Amino acid sequence: MSLVKASSIFIIFITLMHPLTMIMSMPMQQQQQVKDIKIASSSSDEEDLISKTCNQTSYSDVCMATFLISNYTTSSSSSSHNTTIHDLAFISINATASYAANTSAIIAAILNGSTDFSDQCLSDCLEQYGDAVDELQESMVALESCDYETVNVKVSAAMTNSGTCEGGFQDEGVSSPLTERNELFFKLCSNSLAIVKLLV
Ligand SMILES: *[C@@H]1O[C@H](CO)[C@@H](O)[C@H](O)[C@H]1NC(C)=O
Ligand SMILES: *[C@@H]1O[C@H](CO)[C@@H](O)[C@H](O)[C@H]1NC(C)=O
Ligand SMILES: *[C@@H]1O[C@H](CO)[C@@H](O)[C@H](O)[C@H]1NC(C)=O
Ligand SMILES: *[C@@H]1O[C@H](CO)[C@@H](O)[C@H](O)[C@H]1NC(C)=O
Ligand SMILES: *[C@@H]1O[C@H](CO)[C@@H](O)[C@H](O)[C@H]1NC(C)=O
Ligand SMILES: *[C@@H]1O[C@H](CO)[C@@H](O)[C@H](O)[C@H]1NC(C)=O
Repeated sequence: MSLVKASSIFIIFITLMHPLTMIMSMPMQQQQQVKDIKIASSSSDEEDLISKTCNQTSYSDVCMATFLISNYTTSSSSSSHNTTIHDLAFISINATASYAANTSAIIAAILNGSTDFSDQCLSDCLEQYGDAVDELQESMVALESCDYETVNVKVSAAMTNSGTCEGGFQDEGVSSPLTERNELFFKLCSNSLAIVKLLV
């Protein structure tokens, strides 16, 4: 897999992933209940787990970029805990939620003071991404209690929100300023679902 190819996505994530350093310091009791088949104990085991996991997603380059950033947040910051697929699922959904929240903030900034006629589409998108953040946060709560069915339902719901946002512009015949964001968000959701599926 080409790291060069992933580098542009990588850059997008750099600023987004910093809150993830908190993840690995949270209580892990719930996670021990998970039937984790693969356990990573060292940095290279972790890399192996990440590539094997990403290889089972539809957008493996995006997947690799997601975890490359959290490279230093997993094994290096938590010697008491081996990285599991459950951890990767959490990190993936968390990154997706961060991306949705960042997208909401960007839309709010564009809308601020604007009286453009595509404003209604943007307002709709703001609502869609607000809902997506809520759904993804609920899915993380469900993941912590290993309720994978609920995780699946919530992440799937968030995934359709980006399509609704993009479709709004198409319906009005105006070009969407959010196409790239909607596409990347869709891929992040798709990958998260694929990773969660590995836990079931
Ligand atoms: C991590 O995995 C190694 C072997 O793969 C094992 O010896 C070690 O006890 C594990 N650490 C934890 C905290 O489970
Ligand atoms: C992904 O899986 C396919 C077959 O399942 C294998 O041929 C390929 O080498 C794998 N790639 C990585 C990066 O693990
Ligand atoms: C991942 O960790 C290795 C070893 O600590 C480090 O050399 C590398 O730069 C890190 N990669 C990223 C993207 O942080
Ligand atoms: C990501 O996870 C951390 C740790 O649980 C949490 O504090 C943060 O709010 C999450 N990010 C989003 C966007 O939900
Ligand atoms: C969204 O994230 C980018 C970096 O990926 C950052 O430059 C930008 O300030 C963020 N926007 C908002 C509104 O948070
Ligand atoms: C909207 O614009 C005002 C003034 O231009 C600014 O103070 C405010 O922070 C902006 N709000 C957002 C959400 O960007």
